[in-house]
Amino acid sequence: MTCFDEAPMTSGYARYLAAKTTVDDRALNRHVLAGLRRLMPAGAPRVLEVGAGLGTMVARLMDWGVVGLGEYILLDADRQLLDCSRRWLCDWAAARGLRSGPLPDGLRVGDLRVRLVHAELGRYLEAAHGPLADVLIANAVLDLVDVPAVLPGLLRLLVPGGVYWFTINYDGESIFAPGHPSDDRVMRAYHRDMDERFRYGRPAGESRTGRRLFHYLRAAGVPALAAGSSDWVVSADPDGNYPGDEAYFLRSILGTIENALRSRQDQVEPADLADWLAVRGRQLAAGELVYIAHQLDFVGRSPD
Ligand SMILES: C[S@@+](CC[C@H](N)C(=O)[O-])C[C@H]1O[C@@H](n2cnc3c(N)ncnc32)[C@H](O)[C@@H]1O
Repeated sequence: MTCFDEAPMTSGYARYLAAKTTVDDRALNRHVLAGLRRLMPAGAPRVLEVGAGLGTMVARLMDWGVVGLGEYILLDADRQLLDCSRRWLCDWAAARGLRSGPLPDGLRVGDLRVRLVHAELGRYLEAAHGPLADVLIANAVLDLVDVPAVLPGLLRLLVPGGVYWFTINYDGESIFAPGHPSDDRVMRAYHRDMDERFRYGRPAGESRTGRRLFHYLRAAGVPALAAGSSDWVVSADPDGNYPGDEAYFLRSILGTIENALRSRQDQVEPADLADWLAVRGRQLAAGELVYIAHQLDFVGRSPD
């Protein structure tokens, strides 16, 4: 039995995050990743990942030899997703012949203590919390929060000279190919929804977070030491099959756009949206749909 069978409430989102793994694997900027490797503290660092979801990043960083010892904290507002992550990481470890086992507040994976923290980021930053982190990670998350409001508090979670790695930050450009006459209107409305949405009672992200992070990081006194693009590029193989579970990933992206535009009928006529979705659905089924999303990665340090 997998986590997806056990937690039907969040299974769709958990499956989306699992399906996203191979897309992120290709996208993460290797120049910025090399910067993280250079800055990574020796020994057994404490890593905090905010908005960690299923925990696919800790698995990736173990696979890529970036982490292995110490403590890795997965913080997320979605408790069911964290419950899923316990099982997902156990399954992942078993598939690699790594030992894993439960801990009171998480699990051991190989030589790494993985702790699960259920918290909304804004509230977590306002409250008192434990020891500072050596490394702070946010993957596909900063475009979901009010970065200027959140960044100073986030950086206070780091030890002096601590490292941040902020990756897969959406930057205002989604391309679906082949083109459709409603593409521009659909994307304009989708970006407007991103710019105006509220979650947890707070503004929740910007469609141009990626490019704005250059300035936000500088203004916070932690300019990026390396930056680069981490575009998602998803297409089918010559036989029309998408890699891994990436057809599901694409269906989820189309579903997200559909949900966002449901309340934006003043910007895209329901019939136009329905046609756009139907055409995209058929292209996906035929293995013809190509999806590209422009994103940016950053690595840097807090002052000593
Ligand atoms: C797009 S998912 C990315 C998950 C994971 N980092 C990954 O790349 O697979 C965004 C995650 O951030 C979490 N999240 C969004 N807003 C949050 C907030 N204000 N506080 C804590 N977690 C949040 C969501 O629950 C979700 O798991």
